[in-house]
Amino acid sequence: MKRYPGTIALICGSPKQTGSSSAAVLDRLREKLPEKTPITDIHIAAKLTAENAELLKSCDTLLFAFPLYVDGIPGHLLRALMQLEPLMRSEQRVYGIINCGFFEGRQCQTAARILENWAARSSCNYMGAIGLGTGGMLTLFDKYGEGPLKPIETRLTALVADIISGQTIGFEHTQASLPKIVYKLAVEMNWRRSAKRNGLKSADLKRKPLPPSRQ
Ligand SMILES: Cc1cc2nc3c(=O)[nH]c(=O)nc-3n(C[C@H](O)[C@H](O)[C@H](O)COP(=O)(O)O)c2cc1C
Repeated sequence: MKRYPGTIALICGSPKQTGSSSAAVLDRLREKLPEKTPITDIHIAAKLTAENAELLKSCDTLLFAFPLYVDGIPGHLLRALMQLEPLMRSEQRVYGIINCGFFEGRQCQTAARILENWAARSSCNYMGAIGLGTGGMLTLFDKYGEGPLKPIETRLTALVADIISGQTIGFEHTQASLPKIVYKLAVEMNWRRSAKRNGLKSADLKRKPLPPSRQ
């Protein structure tokens, strides 16, 4: 009988060095794994290093957590996946956790399909992915884990059970439980604060790049 999940790689694919939602979700998931699970933590923030490629080769289960960028996978992570392609082994299992800034977790489905196609090309086992909306709130588990983030907590708990029993999950999605308008207003307020911290005005957030003819 096969042993699941073996050594599990928790791979953060956010380019942010600290404070990313992807890292926060992985931290939460790590707490739910059985105590003695062998874990390899990897952060792919830019290029895939030779050292990380070696580590990933030796893991049994690879869990990629990353942000949605333009309905797809961030460019640096896609490049890293392409580098990994020839190194993957047929017994390795791949899961994804994709988080997005939009309210609805189902926005992440296209990125999940990209990951699935990559796994097919790499001849490893694609086990499925979850799409998490309301990404702007996912660093707030300590505050809202028992409140609006409860659906995400529940989904992560189920994902851990699936990883441990070697279940495939297809694509499942969820988001925080709060009215969409409240999330939108909170996120927009954060953008204005962030603009101010960076010496910009709220109006600057609406600026558009000039078309090439007017540059
Ligand atoms: C270049 C870029 C493109 C993005 N594209 C999308 C998108 O298509 N849909 C979406 O819902 N959010 C999009 N976002 C928002 C991120 O997915 C969101 O902020 C996410 O929570 C960031 O996760 P992280 O903190 O793990 O990096 C984009 C962000 C950036 C910087």
